[in-house]
Amino acid sequence: MNKKKIADNVWMIANLDWDRRLFDSLIPLPDGTSYNAYVVKGSEKTALIDTTDPKLAENLLKQLETVERIDYIISNHSEQDHSGTIPQVLNKYPEAKVLVTEQGKTMLINLLHIPEERFQTVKDEETLSLGNKTLRFMHMPWVHWPETMVTYLEEDKILFSCDLLGSHIATTDTFATDEVKVYEAAKRYYAEIMMPFRTIIQKHLTRLENEEIKIIAPGHGPAYDKPGFITDAYKDWISDKPKNEVVIPYISMHGSTRRMVSRLVEKLAEKGITVHQFDLARTDIGKLAITLVDAATIIVGVPTVRNMPHPAVMYALNVANIVVPKARYAGVLNSYGWSNQTTIDLITKSIPNLKAEIIGAVSCKGLPTEEAYKEIDQLAETIQKKHQEEKLL
Ligand code: FEO
Repeated sequence: MNKKKIADNVWMIANLDWDRRLFDSLIPLPDGTSYNAYVVKGSEKTALIDTTDPKLAENLLKQLETVERIDYIISNHSEQDHSGTIPQVLNKYPEAKVLVTEQGKTMLINLLHIPEERFQTVKDEETLSLGNKTLRFMHMPWVHWPETMVTYLEEDKILFSCDLLGSHIATTDTFATDEVKVYEAAKRYYAEIMMPFRTIIQKHLTRLENEEIKIIAPGHGPAYDKPGFITDAYKDWISDKPKNEVVIPYISMHGSTRRMVSRLVEKLAEKGITVHQFDLARTDIGKLAITLVDAATIIVGVPTVRNMPHPAVMYALNVANIVVPKARYAGVLNSYGWSNQTTIDLITKSIPNLKAEIIGAVSCKGLPTEEAYKEIDQLAETIQKKHQEEKLL
């Protein structure tokens, strides 16, 4: 993609990765992604803000062919999807320095073997004059790595936020014009990457409220010329209050667990509770993560396989434990063949990062009996009562 102007002498280079389907060999990317770099040309100096994943280095270097000189490479974040092409850019511009936090410098040396003399570290709130343009650096650690910062262009009021507020989506749109699509992509990204750090992200967003921001220029996905669209969405996602929603990830080997899940879904829907049901044999784990952003309750449907919970369910719970959703209640539906000795225990102990109260476990041998259905109906009542107590319903 060619450079796209987002303000006078400020260009976005969106390195589009249309075909990437997995990030960190873990996170599904159904819409691809982009690794955005930005060129800011002042009257005296020129800065490049972030680079691209090495996979798209050729694209970035082609876009830089018309940029005669780069004095500074600003590295907001050391992860290789943004920093991985810094070595090639440094080769092309031997005069350029890499501006980074102290911790970022150590990480870039470890990850990319960049020589120490090519760095200049920046302090929180330090400014850098490019002549008629001024960059200000704000350290914002733990936007999901410890060294992260954002960069603010004072004169044009542009925030270069890197991962923060970004979306995994490949699009030729410079700005987020298809808000429905970008909202889902940004929520997916938040759910998979930022959610465990929501308390600290809340502090960063509060700090940013003191800045006048006309454009947010993230490291992934389109830029935002209406910044409120994404900052309001984040405020909703990071809020401590969950919504009147239940997520039910499940798997079923011969239909028994599915019958239990169907009964619970039916009873919860009758009570006005929104339910998200996911068959883990086919679901996109990112879709599941999106619903975990808001849900007050998680109920797991799991068959027992040779005295153990089905491994697909353990994988999903491991992901849930990593992303640390705000759910307050959890429960289990289980069908087994001859022994359920360890299943319930292992399931309830597999999500220690969640501060969820276990509100019920229904277990039955083979097909659910009338007694099991009654227990499921009771579980639905309990969920309703808990949601009412929290004033979610
Ligand atoms: Fe987009 Fe944390 O890298």
